[in-house]
Amino acid sequence: MHDTPLRGAVVGFGFISSQGHLPAYLRRSDVKITAVADICDERRSLAMGTLPEAKIYTDFGALLECESQNLDFIDIATPPCDHARIAHAALERGLHVLCEKPLTTEVAEAKSLMSHAQSVKRVLYPVHNYKHAPVVRSIRQIIESGQIGKVHSVTLNTFRNTHAKGVPEWRPHWRRERSYSGGGIAMDHGSHTLYLAFDWLGAYPTAVTAKMNNLHADKYDTEDNFSAVLTFPGGLAHVHLTWTAGVRKIIYTIQGEKGAITVDDDEIKIAVMRKTAGPDVAQGAVAWEVERKSIPSHWMDASHVQWFGSLFDEFKDAIFRQDWSNKALQDAYQCIQVIATSYSSSAAMSQELPLPSAQVAI
Ligand SMILES: NC(=O)c1ccc[n+]([C@@H]2O[C@H](COP(=O)([O-])OP(=O)(O)OC[C@H]3O[C@@H](n4cnc5c(N)ncnc54)[C@H](O)[C@@H]3O)[C@@H](O)[C@H]2O)c1
Repeated sequence: MHDTPLRGAVVGFGFISSQGHLPAYLRRSDVKITAVADICDERRSLAMGTLPEAKIYTDFGALLECESQNLDFIDIATPPCDHARIAHAALERGLHVLCEKPLTTEVAEAKSLMSHAQSVKRVLYPVHNYKHAPVVRSIRQIIESGQIGKVHSVTLNTFRNTHAKGVPEWRPHWRRERSYSGGGIAMDHGSHTLYLAFDWLGAYPTAVTAKMNNLHADKYDTEDNFSAVLTFPGGLAHVHLTWTAGVRKIIYTIQGEKGAITVDDDEIKIAVMRKTAGPDVAQGAVAWEVERKSIPSHWMDASHVQWFGSLFDEFKDAIFRQDWSNKALQDAYQCIQVIATSYSSSAAMSQELPLPSAQVAI
């Protein structure tokens, strides 16, 4: 694919880039991080310590000005409010862009970024890393095998006992400040939940009804609890996200016409219907074959560093295939659209609202 390593720059040297991206880059011989920009002095000092040969900048504009000629891509890991601005500037300089979720905080920004990437023929790729959790990969394989038949409904629950914190040297609670985050748990975690639902139901949703609240409205201006029901062409998805749970975990269920998958962090249970002799009219006419497995997926490590390698392989592959309108990017756009429409639904007493066409016109 590439004889020489890809040369990248990181913008935002906070939690996810220092704990989740950098360690994964440093393990690879096919990528070299040659520059970093961060607005925070202490974070720049830490970047210098981790990457002594890299050029360190206070401002992404200066980094792009001085380094673009020697770069292939930029990795954006700042809070969401700046993603679109930084991505446009990098595309303008002819760089490919790997961008943390959510791609943007506004639908119009996502659309404009997608058309920019298309027009300059560069890859814009979101960090949709939950697809790379080993147990989630296993769900995909089971669905593909046909074992549980066509999927008709899914539930995705994400329980957190607090909002995720940013590094202490900067603004650890930026996720609770709308001007930085663009929203609360739906904006922060919603993308992960939604792109998995799209994948399992094999389509984009056509309507959504949502409800949310903020149990810490005295201190913060973003929601900490969010529930929504999404209508898909072939079924429903029920999503629930909370930062005020008593535990940190995910519980997903996937219901197919011949069986079901239940996931509780690393534990996965696959139940498949087996017809027994006799008339198929009562519960007793069906037996369940149940398989239980434990698939270590490192859910408690919020850096998800173990999932980054195969995500980066996908980004590289999209560059190789010149896939300017890649599926992950389409998913990212749909995520922002569903999140924005969910906010409107919640503000309108949970009125069900249609989602614009699944086809992204760019
Ligand atoms: N995919 C995942 O699993 C995952 C996990 C955590 C965070 N994230 C995403 O990563 C991004 C960063 O989150 P985090 O938890 O690392 O936050 P963080 O607060 O720990 O880090 C943000 C860093 O960006 C720097 N920064 C802020 N504005 C900047 C700017 N304009 N230019 C340069 N540097 C700037 C800050 O100084 C800080 O060092 C967010 O988009 C978040 O949603 C994704």
